[in-house]
Amino acid sequence: MIMKKLVFLLLGGSVFFLFACQGKVSDSSDESGRAYMNQKYRPQYHFSPERKWTNDPNGMVYHEGTYHLFFQHYPEALHWGPMHWGHATAGDLFHWEHKDIALYPDSIGYIFSGSAVVDKNNTTGFQSGEEKPLVAIFTHHDPDNDLQVQSLAYSTDGGKTWTKYKDNPVIENSGIKDFRDPKVFWHEPTSRWIMVLAAGDHVRFYSSPNLKEWNLESKFGKNAGAHGGVWECPDLFPLALDGDEQNMKWVLLVSINPGAPNGGSGTQYFVGDFDGHRFTNELQGNQWIDYGTDNYAGVTWSNTPKRKIFIGWMNNWTYAEQIPTSTWRGAMTLPRRLTLKSVAGEPRLVSQPVKEIQALQKEVFSLKDKRISENSLNKDFVDIDLSEAMLQFRTVTANAGEIKIRLYNKDGEKLDIGFRRKEKEVYIDRRDAGVDSFHVAFPKIQNAPMSQWPDSLNLEIYLDRSSVELFVNGGERVMTNRIFSKKPYSHLEVMISSGEAKLEQLRIFEIESVWRKEQLN
Ligand code: FRU
Repeated sequence: MIMKKLVFLLLGGSVFFLFACQGKVSDSSDESGRAYMNQKYRPQYHFSPERKWTNDPNGMVYHEGTYHLFFQHYPEALHWGPMHWGHATAGDLFHWEHKDIALYPDSIGYIFSGSAVVDKNNTTGFQSGEEKPLVAIFTHHDPDNDLQVQSLAYSTDGGKTWTKYKDNPVIENSGIKDFRDPKVFWHEPTSRWIMVLAAGDHVRFYSSPNLKEWNLESKFGKNAGAHGGVWECPDLFPLALDGDEQNMKWVLLVSINPGAPNGGSGTQYFVGDFDGHRFTNELQGNQWIDYGTDNYAGVTWSNTPKRKIFIGWMNNWTYAEQIPTSTWRGAMTLPRRLTLKSVAGEPRLVSQPVKEIQALQKEVFSLKDKRISENSLNKDFVDIDLSEAMLQFRTVTANAGEIKIRLYNKDGEKLDIGFRRKEKEVYIDRRDAGVDSFHVAFPKIQNAPMSQWPDSLNLEIYLDRSSVELFVNGGERVMTNRIFSKKPYSHLEVMISSGEAKLEQLRIFEIESVWRKEQLN
């Protein structure tokens, strides 16, 4: 299909992301000599570990104004290995302070994924002073027999230091392979703790008065949802449907690897009821929180007053250990607020970047009311560095066939984001987006269904050196992708295949780095 092009002239567009400063070459600089938080593919407003490997986000808990983020971490290498819990904190979900490692492997095993809670009523008896105990509930993985059990660790100093519970584990394993990733919350109606745990091809719900003694309540999922791979990293929480607090639903997240709609790792969800004992699903078909290939093992923060805030690992097990970074490997998605919205009569999970991102954004360009058709073809080019940027499009689709947005640079690298009316789908094409020879599965077009062809498309596209996150129509569809262009994208085109469309507004924002000066220079 031949695309008719509209290319925008952006006069005076400032070059807004500076070239990396030349720092001292040290073990934390990459081969180009850039300082360690300023390397070529290093996210500037997404979390990544200072050094070495990360996978899943873990133990996310909000406590006294601080968001804690722990993460699966192997501090010795750029690949998966004996797992630790790395730790970082932020007051705003963006300016992360890297902290000491919180949990090290021990005689029971590696420290796999899990959650953390504030034990407000001191049900555990771990409290020693004024400070409410933080309790981490995690999986211990024994590498010798490949079996997993569930354990506790606690902090009585607000998360600075952690002690493992002396009577670990608190849930033994009767021989089930893939028995892991406990997510725990306080269930007010029955006044006890509930744990959701992945067990191979289903999840299990347990209850406890004190986080130490657990009782199996029920199982869910053998005959529901997608089963192309192992079930991992579940989460369970209530959300108000369409903001109506009288109409609360329970959302169950389950990550699965492989078996995601665009290959490899992905996260499905169910919506229904949880009565303190069992979960019942009311959704038809398989639903996915994100259709891109790079959002996995995501769960939500516990103890947040109003919002449900989600973060995922921005990677895919298919190629996670091969992505081309040299001193660290792995990053998290943007933190996203989850809400539940009725779409064509069915409850659907909607994800939007948390509002705190706005404080980092500065508008650098805007344009209004452009007809997109053959006649408006324009041969001039945008020329701005889109390394760390957000592009916001408001488009009336009118009678246009395919609508495509292309981000590209003068080295011929390009990323296409498109909408096909006939197929009622959105896609991201990263086949020519940059370096991709590290794995055959990486260069690919990824598609996501749209429930209906919309009259207007409101898009937010977040770019951060080696990632793109697409939020369609307020987050009803989301696609997250890693991309490794050799040069930043700097140019922009909007194309349609037939008919006409109108670009009501395009705004471009630069997004400032969250890292400290000494980490960047
Ligand atoms: C998901 C996962 C979890 C496990 C952890 C190990 O990516 O496989 O199920 O706890 O990673 O690092």
